[in-house]
Amino acid sequence: MKVSDHWVRSPLLMVNRACQTCHNVSEAELQARVATIQDRTAGLIDRAAVAMTDMLDALREAKAAGAPPETLERLYALQRQAMWRLDFVASENSMGFHADQESARLLAESIDLSRQAQALAVRARAPAAPRVALPTEPVEGVTPTEKAPRGPYREKAAAPPPPPAPDAGAPDAGG
Ligand code: HEC
Repeated sequence: MKVSDHWVRSPLLMVNRACQTCHNVSEAELQARVATIQDRTAGLIDRAAVAMTDMLDALREAKAAGAPPETLERLYALQRQAMWRLDFVASENSMGFHADQESARLLAESIDLSRQAQALAVRARAPAAPRVALPTEPVEGVTPTEKAPRGPYREKAAAPPPPPAPDAGAPDAGG
């Protein structure tokens, strides 16, 4: 194992030794890339935190309104999934700089899971929606799946849709 430094501090304080062995660009360029990535990641962390507090409020309200145990269980599962992802990125402490897409993926999932839980919690105590009878139109101007270039997402698109979630469809009465 190569040990180049024994200081426990941010490697960004010595970009020359810590980074330029692999990254053949100027120190200023490298610092600028890191700053951009960290600003964007911090913005996503803030959004995920707001989504999470909104979810927790909605969850407490659903519980207080007497949502049934099955609904609460689904809500708690979504809550755990959302929290793990946000906690991981927030505590891992790089602010996304060395794996920006992975950080963004986890935060995007966290935001989505929090909002899913929030929507489910609100729906659990909302009255049933009226029937919607608006006309639908076919999608236009998009490359059809069979003409798109190969990629794993294509196989997924061609696969049959997953079975619906237990309570998809009519809104939950909420008990
Ligand atoms: C051992 C080699 C190595 C060292 C040392 C290293 N990196 Fe990287 N770095 C990589 C590789 C490989 C990737 C691509 C990772 C990926 O795409 O998943 C990367 C990706 C990045 C990225 C995101 C892609 C981009 O270019 O915008 C940034 C920013 C970055 N490194 C900055 C740094 C900084 C700053 C340091 C020093 C603190 C550093 N790296 C140290 C190998 C290294």
